[in-house]
Amino acid sequence: MADKVRVGVMLSGRGSNMQALAQYKRIADPAFEIVLAASNVPEARGLVLARRFGIKTWAMSHVGRDRAEFDRLVTDELRRHEVEVVALAGYMRLLSPDFIRAWQGRILNIHPSLLPAYKGLDTHRRALLAGEDYAGCSVHLVTEELDDGPVIAQSRVKIRGRDTPESLAARVLEEEHRIYPQALDSFCRALWEADQPTISSALKK
Ligand code: GAR
Repeated sequence: MADKVRVGVMLSGRGSNMQALAQYKRIADPAFEIVLAASNVPEARGLVLARRFGIKTWAMSHVGRDRAEFDRLVTDELRRHEVEVVALAGYMRLLSPDFIRAWQGRILNIHPSLLPAYKGLDTHRRALLAGEDYAGCSVHLVTEELDDGPVIAQSRVKIRGRDTPESLAARVLEEEHRIYPQALDSFCRALWEADQPTISSALKK
């Protein structure tokens, strides 16, 4: 696609999902392009990876800042880059209601569980302790309730008898890298087809 939906990725750490999103254009002609990687952790490895892909980066520590004020700064930066869709990729910080409202229906997240099961943190350890047969990952739209928005893609991973949280996380992560780019692509394609060519101007209002 020539005219792509402008995506801002938000991350806090390793950045392997950001990398999977950035690499997707090697195997497909995605409807999105990543125009910014933003982080609340200035030393996040994901920012280094993003720069290697030629993606612009922005970072500011949230420490000592009010959540709503910090999120306003992030929104300003996303708007400066004319971002249309926000993809959370290991962004380990709650978003303020104002931020979610500002990007209503245009924030996606990847979560390492089969939502609605195991919202929050430490999902693999909790799934193992509960004796589940399957773990997995979900791509969902972000709403004001934590890990609660509509699921748009999901992948199941069979739990093995000897799994540890780490071994399970590694297999689930492979699935995250497979489904997140596809889900973001489908989402952006649908958005583009519905809104074009006014998507950017609509967001600026
Ligand atoms: C991923 O497993 C992602 O699903 C999870 O953090 C990891 C980030 O890894 N996200 C959450 O738990 C959000 N609730 P990455 O930085 O290598 O993409």
